[in-house]
Amino acid sequence: MSPAAIDVVFGSAPGKVILFGEHAVVFGQPAIASTIDRGIRVAVSRRDGQDDGPILRSSSAMLPLRSKPDPDGEGPERLRQALTVLRSLCGDRVRELTFSVDGAIPAGAGLGSSAALAVALVRGIHQFYGEPIDDDALIDRAFAVEKVFHGNPSGVDHTTIVTGGVVAYTRAGDDGARATVEKLTLPRAVNLVIGVAGPHAGTANAVAALRDRARRHPEHYGRIYDAIGALSRAARAHLEKGEFAAVGELMDVNQGYLNALGVSTPAIEALCAIARERGALGAKLSGAGGGGAVIALVDDAVSDGADAITRAFAAAGYAAFATVLPSATSNASQELP
Ligand code: PMV
Repeated sequence: MSPAAIDVVFGSAPGKVILFGEHAVVFGQPAIASTIDRGIRVAVSRRDGQDDGPILRSSSAMLPLRSKPDPDGEGPERLRQALTVLRSLCGDRVRELTFSVDGAIPAGAGLGSSAALAVALVRGIHQFYGEPIDDDALIDRAFAVEKVFHGNPSGVDHTTIVTGGVVAYTRAGDDGARATVEKLTLPRAVNLVIGVAGPHAGTANAVAALRDRARRHPEHYGRIYDAIGALSRAARAHLEKGEFAAVGELMDVNQGYLNALGVSTPAIEALCAIARERGALGAKLSGAGGGGAVIALVDDAVSDGADAITRAFAAAGYAAFATVLPSATSNASQELP
């Protein structure tokens, strides 16, 4: 268990999108999520004795470790708490470390920045001390950190990020049922364009506000969660057969339900409309909503093309980038630098 001889080591983790099932997954429905080829990298080094600056700092404009508009998300106080959890998991020696975070995904946009940060921190610490960690232990440790940011998360974000590729996920049940995670094999890769409809108000806030609304109308909200779960199951079969037109149609239906749940916004709807007008197979928000990312599934053969849709998002004033939903053969190339 000797510390790394080199000065700096890196822990990295990809971001993620939720293709189907956000919010419903909190209530036990299946979700389908995928890693993307952008993520977060944490440089871990020993603290200089003279260095009394921040223990955890960001070197990325994409990941400002902001205190607004979600003071309870990845703000400075939560980061301090996350480091306390890391000390309890990985030992008090973590006090001697300093972390510099570099991200190619925006924070608070439903692209898994906090879960990726949690996974990258745990990986970085284990790397620094030369202690390999298996996926199950990594999932457990990252979940403890993720809970600092998101209260009572379903676990879909960090489980997908550790597993990699396209994943079907059902959370652990209150009845003791274990979480299930299955890696899906897509016969071919398909384009995904991501547009960011501004920062969202925080996953914990969005989940709490929705829970409050649902408490007043449990029967009606319960039906919507059930319907979203059914979409996830149907979409899974279409994804595994490469039937992406059907997947896109079901994404549009899922977006309609998310709108009904009150987590969409005019900017999210505008991005979905731009994508659909330009021939995307389907579009929906990804993550907690109230802002954050919109994902559009794009087959270049039947649309203006991923590049054109990315440009259209940007022309409308939204940060945008294109990525690929990985197939069995493309997973390996999803390694982050
Ligand atoms: O943190 P986000 O924005 O990726 O949202 C996570 C998905 C939710 O279903 C809204 C919350 C959860 O814990 O699953």
